[in-house]
Amino acid sequence: MKDPAMSKPAVLVSRDLFPEVVARLRQHFEVDDNPADEVLAGEALRLRLQHRQGLLAAGGERISAELLAACPALRVVANMAVGYNNIDVPACTARGVLVTNTPDVLTETTADFGFALMMATARRMAEAERFLRAGLWTKWRYDLLTGSDVHGATLGILGMGRIGQAIARRGAAGFGMRVVYHNRSRLPPATEAALGAQWVGKAELLAQSDHLVLVLPYSAASHHAIGAAELAQMKPGATLTNIARGGIVDDAALAAALRAGRIAAAGLDVFEGEPAVHPELLALPNVVLTPHIASASLRTRRAMADLAADNLIAALTGGAPPTPVNAELLGPRG
Ligand code: GLV
Repeated sequence: MKDPAMSKPAVLVSRDLFPEVVARLRQHFEVDDNPADEVLAGEALRLRLQHRQGLLAAGGERISAELLAACPALRVVANMAVGYNNIDVPACTARGVLVTNTPDVLTETTADFGFALMMATARRMAEAERFLRAGLWTKWRYDLLTGSDVHGATLGILGMGRIGQAIARRGAAGFGMRVVYHNRSRLPPATEAALGAQWVGKAELLAQSDHLVLVLPYSAASHHAIGAAELAQMKPGATLTNIARGGIVDDAALAAALRAGRIAAAGLDVFEGEPAVHPELLALPNVVLTPHIASASLRTRRAMADLAADNLIAALTGGAPPTPVNAELLGPRG
């Protein structure tokens, strides 16, 4: 009979993932993977996770206190994302379950996408492409699909962590933008000076930004941080880009503001209740819609998967997980 003390820890890889990364995990673990790429939630997730020590959460699976109670063997949740609002971290900490995420490796790729989405929104690229493909381009017109300039405009950033700062650098150094930001904690003056970014209050951010980009983490405190009242404070003709999380923007209020021409346009990579998208947003021409792909360069997605695997392997084999979220569980490290 197999000696249970000698058996490998059991882990679940929640979604289809790079075969090379799954193969590396198999060197350390009994792996239940998901090549069929079923979305696991509720009872299905509970059944697959029960009796396993580790989870590589590749699809933003919701890890609730209830799920944790049903999976008492669980010791590590390695989230393949920088954001971890899908996980009840205090409940994990209370049960001694380590949570890890994948910061840093996606910063520049995500900032590239945020900037691209902001530019596509300002310059109406998706609308222009739909126009051309529909065979509507029959002649030149002086005001055909005119948008707003990005260079020299005021870039507003709500949330100024690693990705916000990478977007600020692109705007200031590459496009001569004036950069204003709002964040709970203000950056040190030397960092602000290096970025060419100025801290302002939230009301000033809304009033001053020509192009407002959201890069803040989702939490109860940031739920509907941009709703009808905030949209009403934005500059007429401004654009709004959200690469952070659905739920930070009140999508119904945004659709109403876009329909009314209160702001010019929006670029959205994330949605309340995604992958469902508010039907009014789908019907509006002045919104660029993308399916939560800001970190999706092949190289970065591989780096995220590798980092999540590194965290899982270290946490379950006595090593030091590189990017823990509830690091207090690891105790003092020498
Ligand atoms: C993606 O949304 C992430 O949090 O990494």
